[in-house]
Parts: sequence; structure tokens; C-alpha cells
Amino acid sequence: MNRIAFVNGQYTAQTMAAVHVEDRGYQFSDGVYEVIPVMGGKQIDGIGHLERLDRSLRELKIARPMSDRAMSMIIDEVVRRNRVRDGWVYIQVTRGVSPRDHAFPKDVEPALVIYARPKPATARRQNAENGVAIITAPDQRWARRDIKTVSLLANCIAKQAAKEAGAYEAFMVDGDGMITEGSSTNAWIVDQEGRLITRPAGNEILNGITRLALIALNQELGLEIVERPFSVEELRDAREVFLTSASGLALPVVKVDDKVIGNGRPGSISTRIVETFERYVSGADTNIAAGKTVA
Ligand code: PDD
Repeated sequence: MNRIAFVNGQYTAQTMAAVHVEDRGYQFSDGVYEVIPVMGGKQIDGIGHLERLDRSLRELKIARPMSDRAMSMIIDEVVRRNRVRDGWVYIQVTRGVSPRDHAFPKDVEPALVIYARPKPATARRQNAENGVAIITAPDQRWARRDIKTVSLLANCIAKQAAKEAGAYEAFMVDGDGMITEGSSTNAWIVDQEGRLITRPAGNEILNGITRLALIALNQELGLEIVERPFSVEELRDAREVFLTSASGLALPVVKVDDKVIGNGRPGSISTRIVETFERYVSGADTNIAAGKTVA
């Protein structure tokens, strides 16, 4: 199938789309992005993702290419043109094209790319049912991890280490031995008292839209959520461990490095969370994280 992308104002065959050699995203990773899950043909938490995109753009003083409303319509159109039922939409905004110079250029047009890919829900469902293994790896990123920039090399290195270890994800560890987050996911533990613990939003982590969705969905679950850093030891000794992200929703973790968590099967609290997400994404209102993203 000929895939269609929206590139700088036009719907284009993806194979024909090109990036300028002096696009600042390409040269300086001077750009931001979002990944919006599509389930049953619908955007999941699309409003929340666009709110976070606006925040990332503001933090880096990159011009906003268009209103959220206009962008959301284009996202729906890209989903439609590519006949995606289950998959994701990728949105990238870079500062634009300008003669190479580290300082921000003046009056440059931001460059916008939106494309979509199908991804069957089967792999996610299997991971949710069986749980996944993770490793721990050093967090080698910069100091503004709250901004969703395309500067992902340290994340890629951590994910590659996970892959080479046969694991799904790497939870990254800061200089104090505390977990920040996964290379492309947020990290959670359940302590012996059944409390959910996750690192508070701040410059050290990306405030995941799925993380925020879980905090909102917890009105239904009624669990105690404690936002504080947790250590590698607490992770290894946790009653349950799980991760959240747009592509996986919530996935139970059953092994951390060489340590089996619980009995090696997804725990009861993680399973309730997985089920709650499944109900949420198949429901009518799929924007529970909206309004909660802007710090
Ligand atoms: N990753 N932390 C990091 C470093 C991430 O890159 C992501 C998302 C998350 C989870 O955020 P959300 O719930 O909004 O997806 C946390 C996306 C999926 C990616 O880069 O593919």
C-alpha cells in the first residue's frame, strides 16, 4: 500500500517525502514529537498529546505550526488515508530550515511531518497477558527530559541494551541509584502495601500521557498513588512492577535484570490496571488525560 504522509502542508506519498539537509531537526535534533496511539480507528488521548506537544514547543520557543484543532483534523485524515485501525500516528515539529548556525534563526517556519503506521494489537495483548522482562541501565540523557525532543540517542542506547539482553525495556537509573523512567515508557512499582509508586513529573522524566491517564483512571480503581522517586533495590523487591506508554498502555513487568518479580506472572494489581485500560480505550470517551498535561 502506498503510505501517505502530511509533510509541510501537503499530503504526499511517503516515498516521495523529503527532509531538507539543513532542517534543524536533522542537524541539531532541534525538534519535538508525539506518538498518538490509534485503537479501533480512534486517537487515544489525542487532546492530551497535542497539549504536551504545545508545551514542548513553548519550552523550546519553536513556533506552533497550526492550531490543535486543525492538527487533530489532519491526524484523523492521515489515519483515514492510511486505513489504520490499530497503530499509531507520529507527529514531528522541527524549528525549520535555516543556514547552519547553533543559535535559533529568526522568522523561520517550523517543519511539520505527520504519518501513521498500523500495528496490530496482538503483540501488546500478549505482552499484557504474559508480562515482560526489563533491565536497568544508566540514564545518560540531558537535564530536560520533560520536553519530548527528537534527541533520543541515549534512549536508543538503553533500548538496544534491553534488546541485546532479550528484554522489552530498560529502566534508567540516575546518579543517585534512583529509577527515572524507561527508555520509552514510564516506570511504576507496587509496594508490599499495594501502593503505586512512580517518579513525580519534573525535569527528570517525560510526563507520560498514559501515566496521566492512569492517574485519572485511578478514580475508578481507588488505589493509593505515591509520586516519589524509588531505588533499584525497591524495584527489585517490589510486589509488582509495570510500565506505561502510548504504544503498550500498561504492561506488567515480571523480571528485572536477573530477579523474578512475584511468581513470574503478572500480579493482580497490574492485571486490574491492564483491564481498566482495555475498557477505557474501547469506550466512547478516549481523552481522559486532557487538561492534565500542562505544567
Ligand atoms: N515514548 N518516557 C519516555 C522517555 C518516552 O519516550 C515515552 C513515550 C514515555 C511514555 O509517554 P506516553 O505515555 O505519553 O507515551 C515515557 C513514545 C511512545 C515513543 O517514543 O515511541
